[in-house]
Amino acid sequence: MHRFKYKDGSLYCENVNVARIAKEVGTPLYIYSKNTLLDHYRKIRNALREVSPLICFSVKSNSNLAVLKTLVAAGAGLDIVSGGELYRAKLVKADPGKIVYAGVGKKRDEIMDAIRYGIFFFNVESDEELALINTCAGEMKRKVNVAVRINPDVRVLTHDYITTGMGGTKFGVDFKRARAIFRSSWKYRNTRIRGVHIHIGSQILGARPFQNAIKKVLKFLEANKIVVEYLNIGGGLGIVYSLEKPQTASRFAKDILPLVRKSKLKLILEPGRFISGNSGIMVTKVLFRKRTGQKNFIIVDSGMNDFVRPSLYEAYHTIAPVTKPQGRVKKRRYDIVGPICESGDFLAKNRTLPAVAQGSLLAVMGAGAYGYTMSSNYNSRPRAPEVMVDKKRFFVVKKREAYKDLVEGEAY
Ligand code: LLP
Repeated sequence: MHRFKYKDGSLYCENVNVARIAKEVGTPLYIYSKNTLLDHYRKIRNALREVSPLICFSVKSNSNLAVLKTLVAAGAGLDIVSGGELYRAKLVKADPGKIVYAGVGKKRDEIMDAIRYGIFFFNVESDEELALINTCAGEMKRKVNVAVRINPDVRVLTHDYITTGMGGTKFGVDFKRARAIFRSSWKYRNTRIRGVHIHIGSQILGARPFQNAIKKVLKFLEANKIVVEYLNIGGGLGIVYSLEKPQTASRFAKDILPLVRKSKLKLILEPGRFISGNSGIMVTKVLFRKRTGQKNFIIVDSGMNDFVRPSLYEAYHTIAPVTKPQGRVKKRRYDIVGPICESGDFLAKNRTLPAVAQGSLLAVMGAGAYGYTMSSNYNSRPRAPEVMVDKKRFFVVKKREAYKDLVEGEAY
């Protein structure tokens, strides 16, 4: 459930009229609902309460400092994948004891910074990375916790680009390598291999792939008499974008808890989209309408640089009018496209919508995860602002970029 609802035909975020925000801040813009973020975080936390999991919000899904601060203040940990995300974590004073750090290509400086901050776990993805972390820890006279990321080779029905737990992807190590790493753990004196990590993909609608992956990993630990304390099952819980019927948090908990209980391992999760996805929308304005060949186009003021999911993954996002047209309005089939000079620049294709007027506002729903974080300056377009709504009030939590920001640091 999210807190974007119509009241008398106008879209609201919590108790604030979306059109009012757009009028003050301009378009395109992102709007986040603080209380939806909190609801979603608490939903997953409460569902798994019995095992007191560490829930590390996946910063890559939405890294705005106000979003991170909201979740950190509510008790969440953070899942980071870069020095930049660590920097954000420090700014919001995230508890280092609740930070896990994944990613196949960590650099020396990034590792050193993370050790200095005292993060809880490095999720390591190769022997060479483990060796480097061990060396860095040695130089700093520290002992660091490591979880071996295992690629459990399970089938997940989702877009190819966001499948990570099948053989043949770059993530983690296979069981054979994992066994070799555990056998040679004595070589890495400055690390303690205290956990195993899996992340099998994103936008996963049912518990089955998670169950399969957890079972495989537990079997592996048992068969090889490997003792660890933590089981990190990554993120990946799917959400509703259209007609999906994803598992609820409590269904997910019912399905995986028996396995977790039996393992006696402490549980870590890294949800991103589940918390932030439906907590945000992007609002865009209709610039022009036109008909070419057989098609009706709505040309809006946001492009693939602002929101790339439809172009990159052919992702479906509901497009909703910010003000519902009154009376009987004819519906038409449209392609909703942006101003970028590429045919792949679209928000939606063949979408049936009530006829929209020039200058009217459209909301791209479910844009809170992998929306702003994947935006760019392509076509020299300044990035959109971000707004956070808390009940009756709203705050600009990232200013719209100016043209001068586009050339910052360039020399000529
Ligand atoms: N943990 C790890 C190690 C990950 O790689 C990811 C996401 C997560 C957690 C969080 O996954 P989530 O709960 O959000 O599904 N840009 C794509 C999604 C890429 C996900 C990458 N890894 C999209 O827009 O769908």
